[in-house]
Parts: sequence; C-alpha cells; structure tokens
Amino acid sequence: MSATDSQHTRRDFLYVATGTAGAVGLAGAVWPFIDQMQPDASTRALASIQVDVSAVEPGMSLTVKWRGRPVFIRNRTEAEIEQARQVPLSELKDPVARNQNLNADAPADDLSRSAGEGKENWLVMLGVCTHLGCVPLGQAGDFGGWFCPCHGSHYDTAGRIRKGPAPENLLVPTFSFVSDTVIQVG
Ligand code: FES
Repeated sequence: MSATDSQHTRRDFLYVATGTAGAVGLAGAVWPFIDQMQPDASTRALASIQVDVSAVEPGMSLTVKWRGRPVFIRNRTEAEIEQARQVPLSELKDPVARNQNLNADAPADDLSRSAGEGKENWLVMLGVCTHLGCVPLGQAGDFGGWFCPCHGSHYDTAGRIRKGPAPENLLVPTFSFVSDTVIQVG
C-alpha cells in the first residue's frame, strides 16, 4: 500500500447505522412492553446510544445515526487541534460553543467544542449543516474540517463555521465517555 493509499484509508469515513450500541437493539426489542407500562422510560432508552470508538485512530472519523440524524465522531490529530487553537475567537463567525454539555453562552474556543480536558482530541457533533440541514463532508473545505457542498459552508477542525451561508457552528449534542473507549450520545 502506498503512503497515499494509507493516508486515504485512515481518513475514510466509517458508517455505522443505528444498532452500533447494544442498548439500541435491546430498547427496540422491549419497546411494546415498556411502551404500555412506562412510556417515559422507553422514550429515554431510545434517546441515547453508546458507541465503541476504540478503533477510531487519530485522523479518523466515525458517523453514527442517532435519533434519525448523523452524528460525527472525530479523533483529531495534534495538528488539527493546534490548527483550531490558533484561531483568534474574534475571527469566528459564531462565537458561541453550541455545546449542549455547557452553558448556552460558553465561548467557542477549541476546548469548549471538544470532549474536554484530557479528551481534547475527540469531537462529537451533529452532522447537520446549520444552514439548511445538508450533511457536510468530513476532512474537506478551506479549513480542513467539514465542507457542506449544498451552498458552500466551510467548517474548521473544531466544527466551527468559518465561511459560507451557515449561521452557526455544528451542534455538539449531550454526550459523555462512559468508559475510556465508549461514548454515550444523548
Ligand atoms: S445546507 Fe449547508 S450550506 Fe446550505
């Protein structure tokens, strides 16, 4: 395999449909019973998924489906993190983190967009362009993050909108690491 092939492979997206997490399948199987007895509990069970990210090496991304929408999980390289950190906040089109794990007015610095201290390499974001809802392409665009081909929105390596018609940064949903290698979304 050539160096180019190797790099391409590392950057390839993996697509994992709903069912990645055992919890999702289980929730589906017990739905009729729970739905009858305890509708609130069943709704909560379907509201979250757990994703094993142990195979996602630096430079790779994973797309999973959650509540019918794509979620991007990216293990960033040191260079990608550094690239995002070098951007003055005054240059950002949307200065708000858009991270549902933080206060609504948290600033869009790189750490606030990531999984946080010690997990700065991980980004978890809805794969939905904030312009009109297309799914952006990863490792693309003028800022090395994501590019939405529908109307030309460019996001950086922290998922922040940098150029084009999209008004806001890609949304970071509620998520947490439930172990060193498993992320729960929702
Ligand atoms: S939907 Fe992404 S740029 Fe319009």
